[in-house]
Amino acid sequence: MLDKRMEEALNKQINAELASGYLYLSMATYFEDEDLPGFANSLRVHAEEELEHGMKIYDYIIRKNGSVVLEGFETPERQWDGIVAVYEAILEHEELVTSLINDLMDLAEELNDHATIQFLLWFVEEQVEEEELAHEDLRKVRMAVDSRHLLYELDKEYGSLTSNEE
Ligand code: FEO
Repeated sequence: MLDKRMEEALNKQINAELASGYLYLSMATYFEDEDLPGFANSLRVHAEEELEHGMKIYDYIIRKNGSVVLEGFETPERQWDGIVAVYEAILEHEELVTSLINDLMDLAEELNDHATIQFLLWFVEEQVEEEELAHEDLRKVRMAVDSRHLLYELDKEYGSLTSNEE
């Protein structure tokens, strides 16, 4: 049985994960327009992973006999001031998600909810990985942005990404 406060907070996190996916999908459309299909692919893969994160929480709430309540999303941003700005926005967004996971963990600890603490540990580790990747991508993009050759190579690299590699 989930505490009502925990259930509500987990439902909000489903929305945050899916909204992250919506934002990354919007970034993919930006790269499609910029004629960088590899970059678009990597953001699309990232969007799919956010849906998986949301579904992990969905399944957990159901397993704990709780109720899933879905909410709407805000219209995601559609324009950025260049490629580097997109990757700065991704890093900033992942840092925000990390803080949301930390808030969930704080609540689970306050409620002495050991099962949810255990469940959330996967997300704690995932956010370490997400921030690490966001830093790495930002570093690569900053190095490549002024060279058409490097940008082409990076677009090719991102074009071959599939789920579990991003
Ligand atoms: Fe599910 Fe990228 O945080």
